[in-house]
Amino acid sequence: MSDIIIIGIESSCDETSVAVVKNGREILSNVISSQVDLHIEYGGVVPEIASRRHVELIIPVIDQALKDADIKAEQIDGVAATYGPGLAGALLVGLSSAKALAFSIDKPLIGVHHIEGHISANYIEHKWLEPPFTCLVVSGGHSHIVNVLDYGKFKIIGRTRDDAAGEAFDKISRALGLGYPGGPAIDKISKLGNNNAYNFPKVKFEQGSLDFSFSGPKTAVLNQINLFQQKATEIPVADIAASFQKSIVDILVDNTIKAALESKNKVVALAGGVACNSHLRERIAKECEKNDLKAIYPSPVLCTDNAAMIACVGFYKYISGKFSELNLNSQPGLSLENIE
Ligand code: KG4
Ligand code: ZN
Repeated sequence: MSDIIIIGIESSCDETSVAVVKNGREILSNVISSQVDLHIEYGGVVPEIASRRHVELIIPVIDQALKDADIKAEQIDGVAATYGPGLAGALLVGLSSAKALAFSIDKPLIGVHHIEGHISANYIEHKWLEPPFTCLVVSGGHSHIVNVLDYGKFKIIGRTRDDAAGEAFDKISRALGLGYPGGPAIDKISKLGNNNAYNFPKVKFEQGSLDFSFSGPKTAVLNQINLFQQKATEIPVADIAASFQKSIVDILVDNTIKAALESKNKVVALAGGVACNSHLRERIAKECEKNDLKAIYPSPVLCTDNAAMIACVGFYKYISGKFSELNLNSQPGLSLENIE
């Protein structure tokens, strides 16, 4: 089989990213332009600002990705773009650009589910990996335990009933005055704190449920911060951050290990921005070892939003002929279990 070159385009949130990937797993270029600096003063992503910035960046980022990969547009076999879930306006910028590119070079458009992208980052990092495996997907907008049955085939077996894990990290970071994005800030300061200083609650649901809830621990932390503020005493930021991080990681790891054992999968993967978390990586590795499972995760640059993971999915859809029409619309609430 001759090489298949897919260009991937990602613009679902605040990263404008374009990548060129060969045969699904070999990155030729992966340009990521983050807008974090633009959103910092608002303490989170402002959708309208994100869309406008994507418009400014998308063409230069496409040009840069082609240049870095040292290929011409005509050498591309397919154009993959995230079409959901995400911010409607932001998604439209990448998707419309992908349609224009696909039309101009007369190559297929391939709509990609953002979360399928996050999961697939593991294929790029671990060339031996094949389905089935169990994946904990934890990002700013999603927290799911997914059984990956085959390429493009997923069964969600656990999910958050309220906030996403990343969202909880971002909110607590703001309350502790650590800024945005919160995950990396909490991860860093936690290394200086005692993670047993506070025992924040871990919500358990009915027997057999693998769901999570992060609003309980989040409220407990906010109450604890209020208590210090009322007494006008200094807030032990590192201890609170470390104890909060532990409460979130404990529940994520416990449920993911249970899920893998129940489904008899031998490999447990992490995916999404929160998969950068050093405590989560350590804990999942340790618990997997105890249970004779193999823990894997992508390097940090492939955990947070990037287009290489989108191009990887694009490749697997390309080889099974799953192309999209040029009238494909963005779907902000797209579910993982109904992807075409
Ligand atoms: O996957 P991602 O880049 O975007 C979404 O699809 O949402 O994830 C972003 C999320 C943010 O909430 C950020 O705070 C979190 O990932 N994050 C982390 C870490 N690095 C990024 N959370 C915990 N620890 C980290 N080291
Ligand atoms: Zn993401």
